[in-house]
Amino acid sequence: MDSLLHALINKKQADTTGQFYKDVTAGLKSTPKRLNSKYFYDANGDKLFQELMNCEEYYPTNCEMEIFTQQTADICDVMIGDGDDFDMIELGAGDATKSTYLLKYLLEQKADFSYLPIDISANVISYLNVTLPVTLPGLKIAGLNGDYFDMLKKAAARSNRRKVVLFLGSNIGNMPVSDAEGFCRELRNHLSPGDMVLIGVDLKKNPKTILAAYNDKEGITKRFNLNLLERANRELDANFNLAKFEHYPMYDPETGACKSYLISTEEQDVKIGKENIHFAKDEYIYMEISQKFSVMQTNQMADGAGFNPLNIFFDSKKWFIDAIWLAE
Ligand code: TRP
Repeated sequence: MDSLLHALINKKQADTTGQFYKDVTAGLKSTPKRLNSKYFYDANGDKLFQELMNCEEYYPTNCEMEIFTQQTADICDVMIGDGDDFDMIELGAGDATKSTYLLKYLLEQKADFSYLPIDISANVISYLNVTLPVTLPGLKIAGLNGDYFDMLKKAAARSNRRKVVLFLGSNIGNMPVSDAEGFCRELRNHLSPGDMVLIGVDLKKNPKTILAAYNDKEGITKRFNLNLLERANRELDANFNLAKFEHYPMYDPETGACKSYLISTEEQDVKIGKENIHFAKDEYIYMEISQKFSVMQTNQMADGAGFNPLNIFFDSKKWFIDAIWLAE
Protein backbone atom coordinates (compact mmCIF):
# COMPACT_ATOMS: atom_id res chain seq x y z
CA MET A 1 0.00 0.00 0.00
CA ASP A 2 1.33 3.42 -0.74
CA SER A 3 1.95 6.25 1.66
CA LEU A 4 -1.27 8.13 0.91
CA LEU A 5 -3.29 5.09 1.96
CA HIS A 6 -1.14 4.74 5.09
CA ALA A 7 -1.68 8.37 6.00
CA LEU A 8 -5.43 7.96 5.57
CA ILE A 9 -5.52 4.78 7.67
CA ASN A 10 -3.42 6.47 10.38
CA LYS A 11 -5.93 9.24 10.61
CA LYS A 12 -8.67 6.69 11.21
CA GLN A 13 -7.08 5.11 14.30
CA ALA A 14 -8.08 7.67 16.89
CA ASP A 15 -11.77 7.19 16.02
CA THR A 16 -11.77 3.43 16.58
CA THR A 17 -10.03 3.45 19.96
CA GLY A 18 -13.28 2.97 21.90
CA GLN A 19 -14.17 -0.32 20.23
CA PHE A 20 -10.54 -1.42 20.13
CA TYR A 21 -10.29 -0.94 23.89
CA LYS A 22 -13.52 -2.86 24.55
CA ASP A 23 -12.51 -5.76 22.31
CA VAL A 24 -8.95 -6.03 23.68
CA THR A 25 -9.97 -5.97 27.34
CA ALA A 26 -12.94 -8.33 26.79
CA GLY A 27 -10.71 -10.74 24.85
CA LEU A 28 -7.99 -10.76 27.49
CA LYS A 29 -10.46 -11.17 30.35
CA SER A 30 -12.02 -14.26 28.74
CA THR A 31 -10.77 -17.82 29.09
CA PRO A 32 -8.84 -18.72 27.04
CA LYS A 33 -7.42 -15.30 26.25
CA ARG A 34 -7.76 -14.08 22.69
CA LEU A 35 -7.26 -11.00 20.54
CA ASN A 36 -9.20 -10.21 17.38
CA SER A 37 -7.00 -10.47 14.30
CA LYS A 38 -8.82 -7.61 12.57
CA TYR A 39 -6.75 -5.25 14.75
CA PHE A 40 -3.46 -6.46 13.24
CA TYR A 41 -3.75 -4.01 10.39
CA ASP A 42 -2.84 -0.57 11.73
CA ALA A 43 -0.24 1.40 9.76
CA ASN A 44 2.62 -0.61 11.32
CA GLY A 45 0.77 -3.87 10.83
CA ASP A 46 0.15 -3.01 7.18
CA LYS A 47 3.88 -2.38 6.76
CA LEU A 48 4.77 -5.67 8.46
CA PHE A 49 2.23 -7.55 6.34
CA GLN A 50 3.77 -5.93 3.25
CA GLU A 51 7.20 -7.19 4.42
CA LEU A 52 5.73 -10.63 5.09
CA MET A 53 4.29 -10.80 1.57
CA ASN A 54 7.77 -10.13 0.20
CA CYS A 55 9.55 -12.73 2.33
CA GLU A 56 10.58 -16.10 0.97
CA GLU A 57 8.30 -18.33 3.04
CA TYR A 58 4.98 -16.45 2.79
CA TYR A 59 3.46 -17.85 -0.40
CA PRO A 60 -0.33 -17.12 -0.47
CA THR A 61 -0.22 -13.61 -1.93
CA ASN A 62 2.26 -14.55 -4.65
CA CYS A 63 0.21 -17.60 -5.61
CA GLU A 64 -3.01 -15.62 -5.94
CA MET A 65 -1.20 -12.82 -7.77
CA GLU A 66 0.12 -15.38 -10.26
CA ILE A 67 -3.46 -16.58 -10.90
CA PHE A 68 -4.69 -13.02 -11.46
CA THR A 69 -1.84 -12.02 -13.76
CA GLN A 70 -1.57 -15.28 -15.76
CA GLN A 71 -5.25 -16.19 -16.11
CA THR A 72 -6.87 -12.76 -16.28
CA ALA A 73 -8.76 -13.38 -19.51
CA ASP A 74 -10.07 -16.81 -18.46
CA ILE A 75 -11.35 -15.46 -15.14
CA CYS A 76 -12.95 -12.41 -16.75
CA ASP A 77 -14.59 -14.44 -19.50
CA VAL A 78 -16.45 -16.49 -16.88
CA MET A 79 -17.45 -13.29 -15.09
CA ILE A 80 -18.72 -11.71 -18.31
CA GLY A 81 -20.74 -14.83 -19.14
CA ASP A 82 -23.43 -14.05 -21.74
CA GLY A 83 -22.44 -10.41 -21.67
CA ASP A 84 -25.26 -8.94 -19.61
CA ASP A 85 -24.24 -5.99 -17.44
CA PHE A 86 -23.12 -6.61 -13.85
CA ASP A 87 -21.85 -5.11 -10.61
CA MET A 88 -18.46 -6.37 -9.47
CA ILE A 89 -18.52 -6.16 -5.68
CA GLU A 90 -15.33 -6.74 -3.69
CA LEU A 91 -15.52 -7.64 0.01
CA GLY A 92 -12.54 -6.12 1.85
CA ALA A 93 -11.05 -4.42 -1.20
CA GLY A 94 -7.97 -2.93 0.53
CA ASP A 95 -5.75 -1.34 -2.12
CA ALA A 96 -7.39 -3.49 -4.85
CA THR A 97 -4.04 -4.57 -6.33
CA LYS A 98 -5.31 -7.97 -7.50
CA SER A 99 -8.71 -6.84 -8.73
CA THR A 100 -7.10 -4.04 -10.74
CA TYR A 101 -5.83 -6.71 -13.17
CA LEU A 102 -9.42 -7.84 -13.74
CA LEU A 103 -10.78 -4.27 -13.95
CA LYS A 104 -8.21 -3.34 -16.58
CA TYR A 105 -9.05 -6.36 -18.74
CA LEU A 106 -12.82 -5.87 -18.35
CA LEU A 107 -12.47 -2.24 -19.47
CA GLU A 108 -10.41 -3.32 -22.49
CA GLN A 109 -13.18 -5.80 -23.38
CA LYS A 110 -15.72 -2.96 -23.06
CA ALA A 111 -17.67 -5.05 -20.54
CA ASP A 112 -20.68 -3.24 -19.12
CA PHE A 113 -20.00 -3.24 -15.37
CA SER A 114 -19.52 -1.12 -12.27
CA TYR A 115 -16.98 -1.75 -9.52
CA LEU A 116 -18.33 -1.56 -5.96
CA PRO A 117 -15.49 -2.07 -3.45
CA ILE A 118 -16.64 -2.63 0.13
CA ASP A 119 -14.31 -1.98 3.03
CA ILE A 120 -14.68 -1.45 6.76
CA SER A 121 -12.22 1.47 6.48
CA ALA A 122 -13.80 4.72 5.24
CA ASN A 123 -10.32 5.90 4.27
CA VAL A 124 -9.67 2.88 2.06
CA ILE A 125 -12.93 3.62 0.24
CA SER A 126 -12.25 7.32 -0.31
CA TYR A 127 -8.74 6.39 -1.49
CA LEU A 128 -10.13 3.93 -4.08
CA ASN A 129 -12.86 6.34 -5.20
CA VAL A 130 -10.20 8.98 -5.93
CA THR A 131 -7.30 6.93 -7.32
CA LEU A 132 -8.90 4.14 -9.38
CA PRO A 133 -10.67 6.38 -11.93
CA VAL A 134 -7.24 7.97 -12.57
CA THR A 135 -5.36 4.69 -13.10
CA LEU A 136 -8.32 3.12 -14.91
CA PRO A 137 -9.99 5.78 -17.08
CA GLY A 138 -13.64 5.00 -17.80
CA LEU A 139 -14.10 2.88 -14.66
CA LYS A 140 -17.50 3.27 -13.01
CA ILE A 141 -16.80 2.99 -9.31
CA ALA A 142 -18.94 3.47 -6.22
CA GLY A 143 -17.15 2.51 -3.00
CA LEU A 144 -19.23 1.38 -0.01
CA ASN A 145 -17.91 1.87 3.51
CA GLY A 146 -19.19 -0.50 6.18
CA ASP A 147 -19.85 -4.13 7.11
CA TYR A 148 -19.86 -6.66 4.28
CA PHE A 149 -23.49 -7.69 4.52
CA ASP A 150 -24.92 -4.24 5.30
CA MET A 151 -23.13 -2.92 2.22
CA LEU A 152 -24.18 -5.90 0.07
CA LYS A 153 -27.77 -4.97 0.93
CA LYS A 154 -27.05 -1.38 -0.07
CA ALA A 155 -25.53 -2.57 -3.35
CA ALA A 156 -28.62 -4.70 -4.04
CA ALA A 157 -30.90 -1.73 -3.35
CA ARG A 158 -28.84 0.40 -5.74
CA SER A 159 -29.40 -1.76 -8.82
CA ASN A 160 -30.90 -5.13 -9.74
CA ARG A 161 -28.00 -5.96 -12.02
CA ARG A 162 -26.29 -9.31 -11.87
CA LYS A 163 -23.68 -9.43 -9.11
CA VAL A 164 -20.17 -10.85 -9.11
CA VAL A 165 -18.77 -10.84 -5.57
CA LEU A 166 -14.99 -11.03 -5.01
CA PHE A 167 -13.73 -12.44 -1.72
CA LEU A 168 -9.97 -12.82 -2.17
CA GLY A 169 -6.79 -13.51 -0.24
CA SER A 170 -8.16 -16.61 1.53
CA ASN A 171 -10.02 -14.25 3.84
CA ILE A 172 -12.51 -17.10 4.23
CA GLY A 173 -9.73 -18.91 6.17
CA ASN A 174 -9.63 -16.23 8.84
CA MET A 175 -12.62 -17.83 10.53
CA PRO A 176 -13.12 -21.34 11.92
CA VAL A 177 -14.69 -23.78 9.41
CA SER A 178 -18.23 -23.67 10.85
CA ASP A 179 -18.20 -19.84 10.74
CA ALA A 180 -16.88 -19.98 7.15
CA GLU A 181 -19.78 -22.25 6.17
CA GLY A 182 -22.22 -19.87 7.85
CA PHE A 183 -20.58 -16.94 6.07
CA CYS A 184 -21.06 -18.63 2.66
CA ARG A 185 -24.73 -19.34 3.42
CA GLU A 186 -25.30 -15.73 4.47
CA LEU A 187 -23.51 -14.55 1.34
CA ARG A 188 -25.80 -16.75 -0.77
CA ASN A 189 -28.86 -15.28 1.01
CA HIS A 190 -27.82 -11.82 -0.18
CA LEU A 191 -27.57 -12.98 -3.81
CA SER A 192 -29.95 -14.16 -6.52
CA PRO A 193 -29.75 -17.11 -8.92
CA GLY A 194 -27.23 -16.31 -11.65
CA ASP A 195 -25.02 -14.15 -9.41
CA MET A 196 -21.41 -15.27 -8.93
CA VAL A 197 -18.71 -15.39 -6.28
CA LEU A 198 -14.97 -15.35 -7.03
CA ILE A 199 -13.33 -16.71 -3.90
CA GLY A 200 -9.62 -17.16 -3.13
CA VAL A 201 -8.72 -20.15 -0.94
CA ASP A 202 -5.37 -21.34 0.39
CA LEU A 203 -5.10 -25.12 0.02
CA LYS A 204 -3.80 -27.83 2.32
CA LYS A 205 -0.28 -28.75 1.27
CA ASN A 206 2.96 -30.00 2.80
CA PRO A 207 2.61 -29.05 6.50
CA LYS A 208 6.20 -27.76 6.56
CA THR A 209 5.46 -25.31 3.75
CA ILE A 210 2.42 -23.97 5.60
CA LEU A 211 4.09 -23.75 9.00
CA ALA A 212 7.11 -21.97 7.50
CA ALA A 213 4.81 -19.32 6.02
CA TYR A 214 3.57 -18.54 9.53
CA ASN A 215 6.98 -18.91 11.16
CA ASP A 216 9.36 -17.11 8.79
CA LYS A 217 13.09 -17.12 9.57
CA GLU A 218 13.34 -13.34 9.62
CA GLY A 219 10.72 -13.20 12.38
CA ILE A 220 8.34 -10.92 10.50
CA THR A 221 5.28 -12.96 11.55
CA LYS A 222 6.49 -12.76 15.14
CA ARG A 223 6.79 -8.97 14.91
CA PHE A 224 3.42 -8.85 13.18
CA ASN A 225 1.80 -10.63 16.15
CA LEU A 226 3.70 -8.61 18.75
CA ASN A 227 2.68 -5.42 16.95
CA LEU A 228 -0.84 -5.91 18.26
CA LEU A 229 0.50 -5.70 21.83
CA GLU A 230 2.58 -2.68 20.83
CA ARG A 231 -0.49 -1.11 19.29
CA ALA A 232 -2.32 -1.58 22.61
CA ASN A 233 0.65 0.10 24.36
CA ARG A 234 0.48 3.02 21.93
CA GLU A 235 -3.27 3.51 21.70
CA LEU A 236 -4.75 2.06 24.87
CA ASP A 237 -2.20 3.12 27.44
CA ALA A 238 -1.15 -0.52 28.03
CA ASN A 239 2.21 -1.70 29.34
CA PHE A 240 2.92 -5.00 27.61
CA ASN A 241 6.60 -5.98 27.86
CA LEU A 242 7.09 -7.55 24.42
CA ALA A 243 10.18 -9.44 25.61
CA LYS A 244 7.91 -11.50 27.85
CA PHE A 245 5.77 -12.92 25.03
CA GLU A 246 6.81 -15.60 22.56
CA HIS A 247 5.24 -16.27 19.16
CA TYR A 248 3.97 -19.86 18.82
CA PRO A 249 2.57 -20.89 15.42
CA MET A 250 1.14 -24.36 14.79
CA TYR A 251 -0.36 -26.18 11.83
CA ASP A 252 -2.54 -29.27 12.20
CA PRO A 253 -2.58 -31.24 8.93
CA GLU A 254 -5.61 -33.20 10.12
CA THR A 255 -7.94 -30.21 10.46
CA GLY A 256 -6.06 -27.77 8.19
CA ALA A 257 -6.06 -25.16 10.96
CA CYS A 258 -2.98 -22.94 11.15
CA LYS A 259 -3.04 -20.94 14.37
CA SER A 260 -0.88 -18.25 15.93
CA TYR A 261 -0.49 -17.82 19.67
CA LEU A 262 1.51 -15.51 21.93
CA ILE A 263 2.79 -17.27 25.07
CA SER A 264 3.51 -15.44 28.31
CA THR A 265 7.04 -16.51 29.25
CA GLU A 266 6.46 -15.77 32.95
CA GLU A 267 3.73 -14.96 35.44
CA GLN A 268 2.98 -11.27 34.99
CA ASP A 269 0.40 -8.50 35.25
CA VAL A 270 -0.30 -6.15 32.39
CA LYS A 271 -2.15 -2.86 32.68
CA ILE A 272 -4.49 -1.75 29.89
CA GLY A 273 -6.03 1.60 30.67
CA LYS A 274 -7.89 1.01 33.93
CA GLU A 275 -7.83 -2.79 33.62
CA ASN A 276 -5.31 -5.19 35.09
CA ILE A 277 -4.78 -8.49 33.24
CA HIS A 278 -3.04 -11.39 34.96
CA PHE A 279 -1.02 -13.91 32.95
CA ALA A 280 0.11 -17.25 34.35
CA LYS A 281 3.48 -18.53 33.19
CA ASP A 282 3.02 -20.22 29.76
CA GLU A 283 -0.52 -18.91 29.39
CA TYR A 284 -1.41 -18.28 25.76
CA ILE A 285 -3.27 -15.60 23.82
CA TYR A 286 -5.01 -17.02 20.76
CA MET A 287 -4.24 -14.52 18.01
CA GLU A 288 -5.41 -15.84 14.68
CA ILE A 289 -6.57 -18.77 12.58
CA SER A 290 -5.69 -19.27 8.95
CA GLN A 291 -7.70 -22.29 7.85
CA LYS A 292 -6.46 -24.36 4.89
CA PHE A 293 -8.90 -26.33 2.73
CA SER A 294 -8.85 -29.20 0.25
CA VAL A 295 -10.42 -28.54 -3.16
CA MET A 296 -13.16 -31.03 -2.26
CA GLN A 297 -13.92 -29.13 0.95
CA THR A 298 -14.34 -25.87 -0.97
CA ASN A 299 -16.73 -27.58 -3.41
CA GLN A 300 -18.72 -28.99 -0.49
CA MET A 301 -18.80 -25.57 1.15
CA ALA A 302 -20.16 -24.10 -2.10
CA ASP A 303 -22.81 -26.85 -2.41
CA GLY A 304 -23.85 -26.54 1.21
CA ALA A 305 -24.43 -22.81 0.76
CA GLY A 306 -26.46 -23.09 -2.46
CA PHE A 307 -23.72 -22.40 -5.00
CA ASN A 308 -22.63 -24.47 -7.98
CA PRO A 309 -18.81 -24.50 -8.19
CA LEU A 310 -18.28 -23.54 -11.85
CA ASN A 311 -14.53 -23.07 -12.35
CA ILE A 312 -11.34 -23.48 -10.40
CA PHE A 313 -8.15 -21.56 -11.26
CA PHE A 314 -4.95 -22.95 -9.75
CA ASP A 315 -1.52 -21.33 -9.47
CA SER A 316 1.30 -23.34 -11.09
CA LYS A 317 2.27 -25.01 -7.77
CA LYS A 318 -1.37 -25.92 -7.05
CA TRP A 319 -1.07 -24.31 -3.62
CA PHE A 320 -3.94 -21.82 -3.95
CA ILE A 321 -7.19 -21.57 -5.88
CA ASP A 322 -9.55 -18.90 -7.03
CA ALA A 323 -12.91 -20.57 -7.55
CA ILE A 324 -16.00 -19.21 -9.28
CA TRP A 325 -19.28 -20.21 -7.69
CA LEU A 326 -22.66 -19.69 -9.37
CA ALA A 327 -25.66 -18.94 -7.15
CA GLU A 328 -28.36 -21.55 -7.90
N1 TRP B 1 -4.45 -13.68 7.89
C1 TRP B 1 -3.45 -13.70 6.86
C2 TRP B 1 -3.13 -15.15 6.53
O1 TRP B 1 -3.74 -16.04 7.00
C3 TRP B 1 -2.26 -12.86 7.25
C4 TRP B 1 -1.33 -13.44 8.25
C5 TRP B 1 -0.22 -14.13 7.96
C6 TRP B 1 -1.36 -13.34 9.67
N2 TRP B 1 0.45 -14.48 9.10
C7 TRP B 1 -0.22 -14.01 10.16
C8 TRP B 1 -2.21 -12.75 10.58
C9 TRP B 1 0.04 -14.14 11.53
C10 TRP B 1 -1.95 -12.88 11.93
C11 TRP B 1 -0.82 -13.56 12.41
O2 TRP B 1 -2.30 -15.47 5.70
